Amino acid sequence: MKITITGTGYVGLVTGVCLSDVGHQITCYDIDQEKIDLLNSGKSPIYEPGLDELIQKNIAIGRLLFTADVKEAYSDADSIFIAVGTPPNDDGSANLSYIESAAIDIAKYITKDCIVVTKSTVPVGTNEHIGRIIQEQLPADLKVKIVSNPEFLREGSAIHDTFNGDRIVIGSDDQEAGKTIEEIYAPFKLPVVRTDLRSAEMIKYASNSFLALKISFINEIANLCEKVGGNIEQVATGVGLDKRIGNKFLQAGIGFGGSCFPKDINALNHLANEYDYDFKILKSVIDVNRLQKERLFHKAKETLGSLSGKKVTILGLTFKPNTDDIRDAASLKMIQDLLLEDAVVTVYDPVGMPKVEKLYGDKIQYGSSAEKALENSEVAFILTEWDEIKNLSLETFKNYMKKPILFDGRNCFKLEDAENHGLQYYSIGRRPIV
Ligand code: UDX
Repeated sequence: MKITITGTGYVGLVTGVCLSDVGHQITCYDIDQEKIDLLNSGKSPIYEPGLDELIQKNIAIGRLLFTADVKEAYSDADSIFIAVGTPPNDDGSANLSYIESAAIDIAKYITKDCIVVTKSTVPVGTNEHIGRIIQEQLPADLKVKIVSNPEFLREGSAIHDTFNGDRIVIGSDDQEAGKTIEEIYAPFKLPVVRTDLRSAEMIKYASNSFLALKISFINEIANLCEKVGGNIEQVATGVGLDKRIGNKFLQAGIGFGGSCFPKDINALNHLANEYDYDFKILKSVIDVNRLQKERLFHKAKETLGSLSGKKVTILGLTFKPNTDDIRDAASLKMIQDLLLEDAVVTVYDPVGMPKVEKLYGDKIQYGSSAEKALENSEVAFILTEWDEIKNLSLETFKNYMKKPILFDGRNCFKLEDAENHGLQYYSIGRRPIV
């Protein structure tokens, strides 16, 4: 069986590489020749632990090919997985133009009957739309069946998540097509949920929205803990041990970012509006997250009076650790707010700095290490819980900063330690150390 994956972003690349690793013959197709050249040289265009090694291994075995040639990609394909981006439009809806042009190409270049599998996150009804586009352009002697197969991998642990996912969702209105795709995934030995097309599309949005809801909820409990007294770490542990709730995604912090949650909850909200449904909880999740991202900045302003002219350090720029992705990261809002305040901003991140430098150039400074970034600083913010940052000794803040005032958006340190080191320490959902 020849499988082609269209789009070599996070989802497409990781899926393609993992499917080849369990023994399938995979062709990864992308219109970006530069990306394809890089991949053919065994290097991943994205930072993802373990991915380069798996790419090199499967290229060497001959099970993994990369091409920018659309004919090579689609002719002879038995199934084509679409994993192109669905970025947000200005109104929050999902932009389907990449999906639509993939569908047109598929109709144009396939030479035999084929199953088209949508892995991209798409609004309910999109798979039917893809089917119609393909059908309109398809030669009369060919047949295409459509399957929705949403993806649940997390950046930074994408390979682990693919091999150890909680479930594989396969949605199709054609039982046989669904069965064929189920067989492709059989080597993963994971639970399979078979649904109709529209339910599979909804599962993806509902899952991401529910996880985002959990985060916003615990963030609000954290904010309340700060007011009424209480420690969010202890509260989350106590709450999370209830198996009906579960202990995952209860880490209070500076709000969620990344390429999925913000985009997907906005797209679901937009979909609800289109169907004239007022999705109240979802709107609150969006609002709470926006406010959470500004919270530490306002706390710092309240504490210091003004940040104008002060040297401020940000440790951690990516939306989470183990990725170079800064999409919708809290750091971007923080940098913007600090610059408006005329603060002198120095940043440090183990891998995220080049992308931030592209956005802010010489408007901010870049430390070559956490220590360098902290030198003579009056305020420091921790925005991403990289191990390297969590493992900094609190002595470092004391030794390098002018005044060690720390705003920790990821609760990286114990309150007792901050107290023992004489730091002024503010975290999320815990009493301040002053
Ligand atoms: C998410 C989903 O988890 C994944 O299933 C989906 O396929 C894509 O979107 P990802 O965005 O890669 O994955 O990262 P995730 O680990 O879910 O974190 C998203 C954001 O939530 C990050 O900013 C993270 O810091 C934040 N988060 C996560 C919290 O603030 N608290 C938590 O308890 C968990």
